[in-house]
Amino acid sequence: MCGIVGYVGRKQALPILMSGLKRLEYRGYDSAGIALLTENSLMVVKSAGKIAMLESMIGDFNQRCEHGIAHTRWATHGEPTQLNAHPHADAAEEIALVHNGIIENFRALREFLVQRGFTIKTETATEILVHLIRFHYRGDLTESVRLALTQVEGTYGVAVVSSLHPGTIVAARMGSPLVIGHGDGEKFVASDVSAMLEHTNRVVYLEDSEIATVTADDYKITTIQNVQISPSVEEVSWTLDEIEKGGYDHFMLKEIHEQPTTLRNAARGRLNYEEGIPRLDGLNLQYDELRNIKRIIITACGTSWHAGMIGEYMVEELARLPVEVEYASELRYRTPIFEDRTVLFAISQSGETTDTMAAMREARKHGTTVLGIVNVVGSTMARETDGGVFIHAGPEIGVASTKAFTSQVMVLALIATTLGRMRRLSVQQGQEMIQSIEKIPAQVEQALKVEDAVKKIAAKYYKANNFLYLGRGINFPVALEGALKLKEISYIHAEGYPAAEMKHGPIALIDENMPVVVIAMKDPVYDKVMSNIAEVRARNGQVIAVATEGDTEIAKHVNHVIYIPETNRLLTPLLSIIPLQLLAYHIAVLRGCHVDQPRNLAKSVTVE
Ligand code: AGP
Repeated sequence: MCGIVGYVGRKQALPILMSGLKRLEYRGYDSAGIALLTENSLMVVKSAGKIAMLESMIGDFNQRCEHGIAHTRWATHGEPTQLNAHPHADAAEEIALVHNGIIENFRALREFLVQRGFTIKTETATEILVHLIRFHYRGDLTESVRLALTQVEGTYGVAVVSSLHPGTIVAARMGSPLVIGHGDGEKFVASDVSAMLEHTNRVVYLEDSEIATVTADDYKITTIQNVQISPSVEEVSWTLDEIEKGGYDHFMLKEIHEQPTTLRNAARGRLNYEEGIPRLDGLNLQYDELRNIKRIIITACGTSWHAGMIGEYMVEELARLPVEVEYASELRYRTPIFEDRTVLFAISQSGETTDTMAAMREARKHGTTVLGIVNVVGSTMARETDGGVFIHAGPEIGVASTKAFTSQVMVLALIATTLGRMRRLSVQQGQEMIQSIEKIPAQVEQALKVEDAVKKIAAKYYKANNFLYLGRGINFPVALEGALKLKEISYIHAEGYPAAEMKHGPIALIDENMPVVVIAMKDPVYDKVMSNIAEVRARNGQVIAVATEGDTEIAKHVNHVIYIPETNRLLTPLLSIIPLQLLAYHIAVLRGCHVDQPRNLAKSVTVE
């Protein structure tokens, strides 16, 4: 998604802004631009394509400039062209603005401005905004931004500079994240802390309807109704090297191998072995409130939705609580039933996914308790929920989610165990679950050792045009996730299916050109899965099985077998997904795909 970086201080702004933009590249974008304040003039440079293109257009800029804003755009309204790229400036080129979000009423605003003599040059809603600010400008930049934003319906994160106000950045937020970074004699504004971490880890997160006036030595924040507020400065714990690739070829591979660590972090301080009850204070629910829950809805998108599907099996089995898992984009437009004693869990890595936030807000309108399972601290969802559990996976840079997925599943296991202990599990049963959970990070380390075997399988099948992924029970959602990983980074068509369901249609696809990945854990449905494997083999399908260590029988019936350690049946997804993540990664690399920034994808989908 779009990225915003702003700087005001006593150093050259250009290198700071450009390195900030590069830290945001992972979010996915298709054009970029920068506005620099030199002496008392405003210089705007924009380009379609990648940041390198923008750098070549800027050339060797050597004027003194300590103040500016920059932007990477992921096109929503208007093609990804240089003209539509941000920043947008007013006609006099005295005010420049960058914007994340969607202005729903931009046509009406365009009409309002055209009737008052403004000329609109681009297809973007953002240009409307800068002309609206100009329309309201009477000498006070912040006030003109405030008045303009009162006319806007929709979402925005904006940063505004003006040659009429050197040394000032005005930033405002409604539904699209913005954070202010505090340095000595300098300030930063960004849509994501990673753009400023190399300079400061002291930040203030803007809330919705807030406007900040930022100078090198000070900042002032008011609400859009002009009420002064003074939020506290927070310290971000993410270090810069967590953001760097750490020696791996791609962020995605680094993040796959980070999972033993991130899973330890997801459970850290939460395993209360004595009572056999995980410690999840962030839920902000007392034990009797947890015990009283009658129904759970889990809502999310994409990979997070797959994690939610796994959570359904865990909660229903451990707590005997009815759970339904809903695509957020569907839930928000249905007339869902939110009864009393229903709790909604919203799962999101970014905490900014528009569909998931909208579903969450719909539930809150019905008075439903909304709890978040989120990675990004300070994200909109993290701040709007009634409580929740951070997954502590650290910044996930690769667009294809891996470590966030397993940490979401880990947190769901903790929640399911807690609910189970509130309702029916004995201390010992809780302790057994916690012991199994404690072993997972080391078992993931063990599972990661299959990488060389997976690379060989990838080399055999990377030219396939289709893949089928099959799983049963709690490993059915893993089949869905394995298929999504493959298709989103290698562009091979892949489908995940319940193994038994294959007979009802997909079996027509099976031939010697169809690799079929089957998750075949030694569990109560193992024999059924073996029958499905036989059905595939009978049609010359190429079977790649993910199996339990020690199961030598399966090797006689498949083309390839990848072994993973044995664990509690409800925790097998944390291990069975590992070879599937690696398979997708290595196939994509062999196909020369852009693994960390796959085509058409964005890290955080903040549009409908
Ligand atoms: C995951 O690999 C995908 N990039 C995508 O499906 C993602 O999971 C989805 O957009 C939800 O994102 P969120 O977890 O940040 O809400």
